[in-house]
Amino acid sequence: MIPDPAALARIIIAMDYDQSGIATTYDEARALTSARRRHWQRLLSAHVDRTAISLVVDLGCGTGRFSELLASELGARVIGLDPSEKMIDQARLKPATSPVVFGRASAHELPLPDGCVDLVFMSQIYHHLPNPAAVARECWRVLRTGGYICIRTGTRENDVVVPNFFPWARAMLDADLPSSDEIRSNFASAGFMPRHHEIVTEVVAPDWPSFVRKSALRADSFLARLSDTEFDQGMAALRAHRANINLAEAVTEEIDWFVFTKRASPAARDLAPSARNSGAYSYKPRMPYRRLNHRRMLCNRGPVPSGSISFFTCGCRSSASTNSLWWCSHQAVKIASSC
Ligand SMILES: C[S@@+](CC[C@H](N)C(=O)[O-])C[C@H]1O[C@@H](n2cnc3c(N)ncnc32)[C@H](O)[C@@H]1O
Repeated sequence: MIPDPAALARIIIAMDYDQSGIATTYDEARALTSARRRHWQRLLSAHVDRTAISLVVDLGCGTGRFSELLASELGARVIGLDPSEKMIDQARLKPATSPVVFGRASAHELPLPDGCVDLVFMSQIYHHLPNPAAVARECWRVLRTGGYICIRTGTRENDVVVPNFFPWARAMLDADLPSSDEIRSNFASAGFMPRHHEIVTEVVAPDWPSFVRKSALRADSFLARLSDTEFDQGMAALRAHRANINLAEAVTEEIDWFVFTKRASPAARDLAPSARNSGAYSYKPRMPYRRLNHRRMLCNRGPVPSGSISFFTCGCRSSASTNSLWWCSHQAVKIASSC
């Protein structure tokens, strides 16, 4: 089916989580079951030297779905950063059991000093980045040499369920999702060495009725951008789907998992995979990102208070006074200087 002009226009509209209701249904629709948690814990431990990690950035942390897991699995302090106020607000509602702090920032401008971070984790944000190559360079800047970047992301190559039932989402997925080659190329060019890549098959719902219930919550940037009619048609198709499936069987989808480490020098052009120059990569144009006004946020918050805030005891998840990029930046500098 060829999308009409209105649908095409929607494809290139960048997703703004603060303009959607996703934040309130995200955790219910996309919760990590304990089996999924264990799976990602194993993947992290398999490819990251836990003993070398003390500060992690959960970049595009959203509601903090992975932040706690990162802190407990890696025994590290975690800074969750996301431009969406609504997503961050949800993250702060979670009970604080680990040293995790949240702040607002775009991946393009991290409020962190150079070389202070041991690991940057990005889960399902790559397709939202207007300039992923610039983000790769920004990650290189904040990571220490040998530091890790772990990317959990959908790619165009993945086998996923949604487009089979929501045909309009297919066009969006094709337009938004990167290829795995594009990711490799961007990070190699920014000065990262590939350490691991695999396509992970995840159980996204324990059975078909659960998958239908989760989809109905529309907590997905592709489903959120469909018109109500397109969404309702897709939901009707999902509910009617009976043929050739066992309704009690788990529903799985694929997702890519990359681990890179930072080289000492960003000038890695000569070391990038040879396919990088073969024309095999397509760089799609992306919409400009509505930049957060960092300077204004800084001014509104007034001067940095004298170093009395304790990272672990300030109630960073819930206190409104800590809801600022400035605060997070200040903490990051403190963390960096203490590690
Ligand atoms: C699908 S959610 C993923 C949230 C979380 N990482 C997870 O896996 O549950 C995508 C998140 O990316 C964030 N995002 C969008 N643009 C971003 C940017 N330029 N920098 C950082 N995060 C961004 C959104 O606000 C949203 O919270």
